[in-house]
Amino acid sequence: MAFGRGGEVLVAFVVALCMSATKLEAQLHMGYYDKTCPQAEFVVMDEVKKAVAGNIGFAAALVRMHFHDCFVRGCDGSILIDSTPNNMAEKDAPPNNPSMVGFEIIDNAKKRLEAECKRTVSCADILAFAARDAVVLTGGFFYKVLAGRRDGKVSIANETLTNLPPPSFDLNQLTQSFAQKGLSQDEMIFLSGAHTIGRSHCSSFSNRLDNFNSTFSQDPSLDPAYAGQLKQECPNTSSGANQVVPMDPNSPNTFDTSYYSNILANRGLFTSDQTLMSTPATAAKVRQNAADWLGFQKKFGKAMRKMGKIGVLTGSEGEIRCNCRVVNGFY
Ligand code: HEM
Ligand SMILES: *[C@@H]1O[C@H](CO)[C@@H](O)[C@H](O)[C@H]1NC(C)=O
Ligand SMILES: *[C@@H]1O[C@H](CO)[C@@H](O)[C@H](O)[C@H]1NC(C)=O
Ligand SMILES: *[C@@H]1O[C@H](CO)[C@@H](O)[C@H](O)[C@H]1NC(C)=O
Repeated sequence: MAFGRGGEVLVAFVVALCMSATKLEAQLHMGYYDKTCPQAEFVVMDEVKKAVAGNIGFAAALVRMHFHDCFVRGCDGSILIDSTPNNMAEKDAPPNNPSMVGFEIIDNAKKRLEAECKRTVSCADILAFAARDAVVLTGGFFYKVLAGRRDGKVSIANETLTNLPPPSFDLNQLTQSFAQKGLSQDEMIFLSGAHTIGRSHCSSFSNRLDNFNSTFSQDPSLDPAYAGQLKQECPNTSSGANQVVPMDPNSPNTFDTSYYSNILANRGLFTSDQTLMSTPATAAKVRQNAADWLGFQKKFGKAMRKMGKIGVLTGSEGEIRCNCRVVNGFY
């Protein structure tokens, strides 16, 4: 038959095309809202700008919120869901409550986007954009955010404890925790650089000051002068545990590389920060990031983009929530 061979090739080509289309649909895209809601990223930036102008501390909260969203059930906006009488949600678990703030910023962006592009922009994407904007507004490098995440329908408080690394983790534990999410040790080191902005409750590191172990009451890897300063800000009492201190005291609101220079000076706030110095290889990475602002900024953005892909729902999975706090159809 004259067409026989060409027909087979054509069928094979069409099948391959369909398969690759299905595959592509399951991925995030640059410019995902270009046609359906071109103003999406501008609206989010505008709301983040307003919030940060009122209180720059919100920038750190948004960066951390995206991390805590992605590590628990993937970047599906599950951290934004409110608890109900029958379910305690992620945001009310100890790693997030009371330290996580700024949920209203996402609400405000969502309200505007629902008015302008109904049921189009997911809460998970709004949070991914907002985290990037927070980095930019504190002096960090702009990075492009992939979009097309859909919102999850489940948020369970307990899942935070098993998925989010606590500040007591050592290098092996951190490396393992990030590996479970498909992130390398290198990416873990870059992402930890986010601790160059923001604050911490004393309870997250007070064991290093007052109750370290049976040999040392104070963590010997913590600079004694800095420890003394922290002890003044964090009295060894229950109310002291609720105080907050800046994580990078010299430039608490600037997205620079001083997280790494602090660690080099034994002034990492958490065990999980200072532990990056515990092997020659990771210490070399810390030294490199401390000395290379531009290199750090680029690698940080790249690692954020990778983190933003963890366990995402795409295509027809999940939903576009109408209200970021509530699963659709839940009354
Ligand atoms: C490597 C493992 C990590 C651990 C153990 C950890 C732990 C913590 C803890 C305990 C706090 C203080 C919470 C409080 O007591 O108020 C904190 C704050 C913060 N974390 Fe992390 N974190 C890690 C990685 C990350 C990553 C990957 C990011 C983002 C890319 C991030 C961003 C932040 C920010 C911006 C703050 C300040 C929050 C604020 O000021 O509201 N952290 N982190
Ligand atoms: C969640 O954790 C708490 C405390 O560890 C426990 O009492 C509860 O049964 C857990 N809930 C689920 C659904 O696993
Ligand atoms: C801190 O308080 C705990 C419990 O009250 C006590 O056991 C510990 O000795 C105190 N540490 C210092 C350095 O005061
Ligand atoms: C206490 O901590 C130090 C420094 O991390 C360590 O070398 C020592 O073995 C620890 N002591 C005990 C009894 O755990």
